[in-house]
Order: sequence, then structure tokens, then C-alpha cells
Amino acid sequence: MRKHLFPLLVLFLFFNCKETVKKTKATINNRGLITDKALVVSAREEASKIGVEIMKQGGNAFDAMMATEMALAVAYPYAGNLGGGGFLVYRLADGEVGALDYREKAPLEASKYMYLDEDGNVIKGKSTIGPLAIGIPGTIAGVFKAHEKFGKLDVKTILQPVIDLANNGFVVTEKQARRFRAYDSIFKVVNGKKIVFNENLKKGDKVFNFALAETLERIANNGRDEFYIGETAKRLVKFLQKKGSIITLEDLTKYESIWRKPIQFYYDNLTITSMSPPSSGGICLNQIMTMIEDFDLKGYGHNSLKTIQVLVEAEKRAYADRSYYLGDPDFIAIPTETLTSSVYLNNRMKDFSFKEATPVDSISHGRILGYESEETTHYSIVDQFGNAIAVTTTLNGGYGSKVFVDDLGFFLNNEMDDFSSKPGKPNYYGLIGAEANSIVPEKRMLSSMTPTIVEKDGELFMTVGTPGGSTIITSVLQAILNVHEFEMTMQEAVNAPRFHNQWLPDEIRMEPNSFDRNTIKQLEAKGYIINESRSPIIGIIDGILVLDNGKLEGGADKRGDDTAAGF
Ligand code: GLY
Repeated sequence: MRKHLFPLLVLFLFFNCKETVKKTKATINNRGLITDKALVVSAREEASKIGVEIMKQGGNAFDAMMATEMALAVAYPYAGNLGGGGFLVYRLADGEVGALDYREKAPLEASKYMYLDEDGNVIKGKSTIGPLAIGIPGTIAGVFKAHEKFGKLDVKTILQPVIDLANNGFVVTEKQARRFRAYDSIFKVVNGKKIVFNENLKKGDKVFNFALAETLERIANNGRDEFYIGETAKRLVKFLQKKGSIITLEDLTKYESIWRKPIQFYYDNLTITSMSPPSSGGICLNQIMTMIEDFDLKGYGHNSLKTIQVLVEAEKRAYADRSYYLGDPDFIAIPTETLTSSVYLNNRMKDFSFKEATPVDSISHGRILGYESEETTHYSIVDQFGNAIAVTTTLNGGYGSKVFVDDLGFFLNNEMDDFSSKPGKPNYYGLIGAEANSIVPEKRMLSSMTPTIVEKDGELFMTVGTPGGSTIITSVLQAILNVHEFEMTMQEAVNAPRFHNQWLPDEIRMEPNSFDRNTIKQLEAKGYIINESRSPIIGIIDGILVLDNGKLEGGADKRGDDTAAGF
């Protein structure tokens, strides 16, 4: 019964979203939460509130990052994590920008063809479910590295409210209860028993995670190394090896998060800072925005035929490049300068015509990205000192590999699936996999995560990001354009219906029943294939906009349970 209600709920939400967007621009009613000084927008109310609490105690955005990220691991186990990884993009109050890569790595014993059978075929599920799907987690290394460089409060102060949340329990939402029910049987299969997150949990129930509280307590006392060298590391490895994992203590000991130079580019009077490889997010966003910059999107109108065509055609070309050229920069050479140069990109759009869709087989390079999982999470923070951060973090699939370390209280990722399992050979769809993203021990798998910070005329303007696998890049793109080109508030920009194209498969994915039927018919007449059934929602955007009067507006996406909190 509830299953049948879900699509109705989604439709209701979209009709409401459309309504909001049609109203006159920027009236105060259409805005999200407005605060004077500081704001956190994340996938869970508890996590946003804990981040705010830390800033109220004098902490900055990086202290709030550690608290929010760990609180998501408690209250949003679907994607919040200790057993996964992520990316941070920051802009300090003085304008300095930077990026931190705490993406998972392939274990030392990983090998190029580890997910193929004797005949060279991909073994279904091996890279997505169970112990062999797990990459070396980076989250604890990441939040500690950011805190070590920029944090103000001590770790014990930051983690205490998170430990309290794990001990005192978080309240299950309707969406969570539905997921726990849906995943219960796979949890049982993978873990051989019922786990703390199970089908009996209903909306309003409390979930206590005492094991995670203890793990966090040890991390608060002993620091980052507790997870990579200490008792937690040893218990984790013992657990994993019993399960048949190839991860060793040496893998954990060798893990390091890495400061990266972010991708930075210009669009009109905006300066956009986004994540560099091993995420494809920044390069693809740069490519798409450069390819569309000379088109009069504002004149064409939001989600109009011409706007959709321009965006889709630029997206096709960027995703084709992504699949061929991008991977871990510590293992492959990426021609970033060429890929993002306006000469190259203008040339790339040369064969575009409003008359008809550019056939996908005339755009070279790549592999299908349809395998990428959509269950990640993003949070945005601006603090009372003027620092801004955008963080996207993930277990990859919902609850990652579904392997739950009950003794430690967290799920482990299935990020190994973000590698190309079968490079150089046709995959399930008859397409060629990418060598740049092949499996190599200690290599990081390619990501689409796109935590992004936007400046306008040199001042902080927006921090934004989303989950959504391959749709992350195009969702972030639309959120920025919605505000900049179509004059929406942050909340309107988040609410607005979204579409997505990733070159292959050859289709425009659209959120169902959200687009003008006539526009869809005209797109089809020009040769575009429209798919409204693949994704009931595209992205769950959490963004913060700096208003003209200096106040902050939070856009929390109601496609999830996302919430803004601040002061
Ligand atoms: N696991 C999704 C991503 O990294 O893009």
C-alpha cells in the first residue's frame, strides 16, 4: 500500500515545486530559511542542528564539518558514513580556496580483472554487494585533516553531541522507515543476521547505535589513527577478513587524504570553484558551463526547449570526455588544460544545431555511466566568520556494500563499483570501458561528486552540491543556472524540476510529470529520447545563497528529509 503512495507523494511534491517556481521572483515567501550569520544544510535535521551547535560554541565551518559529517553517519546511515569517503571544497573568509580528497582507494590486493569471471564477463554483484566491493575508507582521515588545518575547537567537544545522538537515539522518518523495510532482506543476506536497521522500524521510532557511540568515543580520545592503526582498525580488519575481504591493516595504515588544487573557472561575473580529479565533477561542470556561456539562456527561459537543448548537447560532449580521459590523477595523466580550454570547448559545440539532436555516435569516447549509484549525500555550511564549505560524502550505493560492522556500528562502502570493471572491452551495453578508470591497487575510483562554491563579483555567493551519481554534475549545474540566469531564490532553485543527459544511454532523463508536455513533444520531434521513468527524483540539492543584504538563505531539498538550521 505504502509503495503505491510513494509515486503520488513524489507527484504532489513536483506539482508544488512547479507552482513555487511560477510565482513572482524572489518574494520572501519563496525563500528557504534565512539567517544572519551561519547556516548548515544537510540531509538530516539532527546533523544540521549539531553543526550549528558547534558553531554557536565558537567553532567554525571546519569544526561544524566534523560534527555534521559524523552526525550524518549516525542519523543517515544510508549515505552518511565512517566507512566511505568524500570531497570537501572550501572558501575561507579571505577568499582562499582549496579542496580535500578523502576518496576511498583500491586495496593493495585489488586487481584489474577482479570482478570478471574466467570468460571475461563481469560477475554480477561482486563489485556492489559484500566484502569485495569495499574500498579503503577515507572519511575519518578527511574530517581530521580538515580539522587539523582549520579547526578551532578540540575534537572531544565537537564529537560529544554526536556521541550523545548515537546513545540517545535518532528518530526514524517516513522515508527512512520505507528504506529500512526495502533493504531488510539484503541486510540479512549479506550480514547473516538482522541488524540494528531493520524492517520493524517505523516512523517515529528511535534508533540507538551504542556500538557507533563507543567507536566515536575512542576516535574522540585517540584521534584519526584510532581508525587506521588503533583498536578500531584492528577490529575492523579482523571482521573484514572473517567476511572474506582482501583489506588488510596495511591498507588502513597507508591511507591518506590529499589536499588537491580545485578546478576554478569563470562564467559571466561568477567564479566557480569545484572538485578536481579523482572527481569528474569540477572538470565536467567547467566544460559544460564554458560550452553554454555564449547562449542566451535567460532569453530562452527556464526549462524551455532551447535551454534544454543547449544544456543537453553540452552535457553529452562533457560526459563523453569524462568517460575517456578522467580517473585518479596520481595514476594517469589528465589533459585538464585542454579539456577546459575555450578553444577546445567551442570547437566541441561547433556541430550543435537547434534543428536536431546531435547523434551520440558522432560524439566520441566513453562508456555508459548508468551503473553509477545515486545514493550519496551533500551538506553546505557557511560560518559566522565568513568561511564556506561544500562537502559531498558517500558509501556509494544506499548503505554501501550492505556490510554492517555491528561491533563498530557502521556500514562499509561499495565504492569499488565506481571503477571500470572491464576496461577496453565492451560492457553489458556493448560500450567500451575506460582504461583511465581501471582498477589498480591504491588507486582512487573516479567520482561524479561536485561540491561547489560560487563567487559573484569576487564575493561569496553560493555553496552547493547534491547526491545523484552521474546526475550530480548536471543537478549542480541547474541549481547555479536557476539562481544566476533565471533569478530564482536558493529554495526555488533547489525545488525546480531537473533533467539530465550523460551522453550514453542516449536519453534525456526528466523528473516525471514536471516538464511542459509540448516541450517534450518538440524535443522528441528533434530526435531526443525522453525518459521520465528512470529517475523519480534527480539529485537532492542542499545549498546556501548569500543575499544582497549579507544574510544567508538555505535551500534544503524536500526530495529528501533535508533541513537547514542556523543563526
Ligand atoms: N559514488 C558516487 C560518486 O562518487 O560519484
